[in-house]
Amino acid sequence: MNVSTLVKKAHELATNVRENAYAPYSKFKVGSAIKFKEHDEIFVGCNVENISFGATICAERNAILNSVAKLKKQEIEFVVVVSENDPPVTPCGMCLQVIKEFASDDIDIYVGNSKEVTRVIKLNELLPNPFTSFTPGE
Ligand code: THU
Repeated sequence: MNVSTLVKKAHELATNVRENAYAPYSKFKVGSAIKFKEHDEIFVGCNVENISFGATICAERNAILNSVAKLKKQEIEFVVVVSENDPPVTPCGMCLQVIKEFASDDIDIYVGNSKEVTRVIKLNELLPNPFTSFTPGE
């Protein structure tokens, strides 16, 4: 699909970082690139699996955690996710909740394969009812 030059650049970065994925168990490599509103640098991440499967980190969370280590909390402008799946995958529930922590409801999530972006979806379409507040116990 037709996307902006910036999204194309992020897609290229996500495609490249996908090659670094450590996915010996699923053999399913994912790359992600995230653009923040006040910063030009695009942060990338790939999935890193673990023999204790629950310790696996998805590409999207890897990119976000990396950005916090470097810039502290920033507002996400858009997210790109690249996989070789038909249809290309959208972020898992855990990643959507982490994306929501740093994004407004209506940001765009671009998904695609290593050739192109195939679909754009709003965060609130994927996660219409995020967990956003709670009353602390005593
Ligand atoms: N995975 C991601 O990295 N991002 C997604 O959006 C979907 C799933 C990873 C986690 C695991 O390493 C592999 O894909 C299979 O679930």
